[in-house]
Amino acid sequence: MSDFHHALRSLRVWDTDLPAFDPATAPEEPLALFHAWFLAAVAAGQTEPHTPSLATAGADGRPDVRTVMLHDADDRGWHFASHATSAKGRQLADRPEAALGFYWPVQGRQVRVRGPVTTASHAEAYADLHARTTGALAAALTGRQSEVLDSPAALAEASEAAWARAEAEPDADAPTWTLYVVEPAEVEFFQGDARRRHLRLRYRRDPGAATGWARELLWP
Ligand SMILES: Cc1cc2nc3c(=O)[nH]c(=O)nc-3n(C[C@H](O)[C@H](O)[C@H](O)COP(=O)(O)O)c2cc1C
Repeated sequence: MSDFHHALRSLRVWDTDLPAFDPATAPEEPLALFHAWFLAAVAAGQTEPHTPSLATAGADGRPDVRTVMLHDADDRGWHFASHATSAKGRQLADRPEAALGFYWPVQGRQVRVRGPVTTASHAEAYADLHARTTGALAAALTGRQSEVLDSPAALAEASEAAWARAEAEPDADAPTWTLYVVEPAEVEFFQGDARRRHLRLRYRRDPGAATGWARELLWP
């Protein structure tokens, strides 16, 4: 067996003490449960629980996925930011739907969010960017995300210039920097279990339900 296969076979999931989850006591809508699980992930020492995978598909229907940073989760939905001119930005312009996947292994938990994507106003994107770090502004000012890079030196030069501008002009605008909101149509909470009796609770938007949400358990 190669080192790779040896390492791969030696790894386990769900072999630590995992928290209990009783879907019967879960809130009536998913946002409250997401906030509770997020805070629990932070308290449990989960590293970077705010970095979900974001899946999109363009006009050709081919799926794509990458990591982004969660900027908020509120009544409007799950917020993230990126360049409208990036690959994901173009895909979202063609097909404004996405899925987010959070995995918090310390607690054996996964959260999946799917739904239509809307774009916040530029004023909101600007405010969001300027509430962040100089590094975040410098990264946004560097621009050209997902374009082919001719050489590392070209990046170093553009990044130096962007950092200098971010430091000298903290109010500088990054016109393509866009705040996206995934409006939840479905949100699924997965609690892993050592005996593989994983619990899956899915909230599905249902205008006929008093809470606006149908809740259902899924086979693992
Ligand atoms: C931990 C982490 C956080 C990231 N956060 C963001 C983000 O908030 N926005 C963003 O545009 N890219 C972010 N990236 C980079 C993306 O994963 C990706 O490389 C980039 O957005 C280009 O994706 P695209 O070509 O599919 O558009 C992050 C990457 C990592 C590893």
